Amino acid sequence: MFRCTSCGATDTKWSGRCLQCGVWRTLVEVPDEPKKKSADLGKANVPAAVSLSSLADSAAKRGRVATSFTALNTLLGGGIVPGALILLSGEPGIGKSTLVAQIALSLATSILYVSGEESGEQIAGRMRRLSTTTTLPELNFLGTTDLAAVSGAIKRDLPSLVIVDSVQTMRHSEVMSDAGGTSQIRAVTNELLDLANQTNIPIIIIGHVTKDGSVAGPKTLEHLVDVVLTIDGERSDRLRFVRCLKNRFGPTDEVVVLEMKENGLQTVLDPSGLLLAERSLPVPGSVVTCVMDGNRPLLVEIQALTSRTAFGLPQRRANGFDLSRLQMLLAVLGKRLGLPVDANDVFVNVAGGINISEPAADLAVCMAVASAMADTNIPQNVVAFGEVGLSGEIRRVRQLEKRLREAEARGFQFAILPKYEEYPKLNSLKISPLTDIRTVLEKIER
Ligand code: TYD
Ligand code: MG
Repeated sequence: MFRCTSCGATDTKWSGRCLQCGVWRTLVEVPDEPKKKSADLGKANVPAAVSLSSLADSAAKRGRVATSFTALNTLLGGGIVPGALILLSGEPGIGKSTLVAQIALSLATSILYVSGEESGEQIAGRMRRLSTTTTLPELNFLGTTDLAAVSGAIKRDLPSLVIVDSVQTMRHSEVMSDAGGTSQIRAVTNELLDLANQTNIPIIIIGHVTKDGSVAGPKTLEHLVDVVLTIDGERSDRLRFVRCLKNRFGPTDEVVVLEMKENGLQTVLDPSGLLLAERSLPVPGSVVTCVMDGNRPLLVEIQALTSRTAFGLPQRRANGFDLSRLQMLLAVLGKRLGLPVDANDVFVNVAGGINISEPAADLAVCMAVASAMADTNIPQNVVAFGEVGLSGEIRRVRQLEKRLREAEARGFQFAILPKYEEYPKLNSLKISPLTDIRTVLEKIER
């Protein structure tokens, strides 16, 4: 049998190039795995089945370690579960090391910090800067890329939390390929998973992702670990969104918004307020919408600018919004509303560097474009959301109540939205349901 030293795939025939990962000259011959005879299978011990209710009790008893970083507790469903393997992934420079340093500071128990990237001085310096008190927690640093050393240190010291920065720098001695390759990071993660399970010590591993989503990225680890946290910055340089994509012990779909400041990542309690704080004076082409990021509503300003096409094909640009979706919406505006979209360049921008991946912003985008073309302002106390279909119909979106409450809390007075059977009781926010995009222009003109 032949095994690829890069991705670990096996094949019965040798070839110059691995058929799985496409890397050249990586196949080496390995002994065949012993086949189990069918007679053996029958003789295998029949495992005893365990009562699930007894397991549920022990899972509840396992408890969680709540940190003093409240946002993180929310994200993890209450705190860190002992023995959990947590993957924190994000692009280089986004703030992963900062976040784990803050987690370490918020626990103030014995922590083993393993880094194959930074020196002990660098990490101690960062901790000191981030610490709100003068005393640092009991923290042991291990500067190594050798997984065996990490494993030895964990078993010897039995810390209460282990941090490994980053999985890409660690090397499992039994795997031939270089550190950072798919088979290496998998072997390292598997070993850490076993360690976390055996010792009941939670381990946080950091994984780098690149913009193009490299092959050896943390994506390949997501199914192995217990919890997947990601940190990303959309396109803005201040805000950081930490999401929980997978959680074997709690809810997912939680998001916390943090702001990168001089003294580390600070929780933003009112991200909508922060995003709207820089709103311009009323201008044509500006409409606020409410999008959901996981379970959290966010009010964001959509800006559109249109100008007569000078020559050739009209241009379309979108920042933070899907370009093909914009093209579809423009076609609807042209066909159903008769707007002169073919004679205009259209630029759409989502303020604050947010990337919208939800059709709920369609209506606001259409209104922004129509308002820019008509050169009329949409009042700043209007919020709009809803999906726009090809025939110009306005479709319902999920989480109606959360969106409306958020808009009301921020002082919006009119909500333009799809027709629902029922609406939540609101105090100051008036709702104006629409079924068709054609009525939008009338609303804008009023
Ligand atoms: P870092 O956590 O090192 O990123 P990663 O580990 O994901 O590569 O943080 C990167 C940036 O954060 C760096 O440019 C400096 C900035 N930063 C602050 O703005 N404030 C702070 O308190 C800290 C620690 C870092
Ligand atoms: Mg780092």
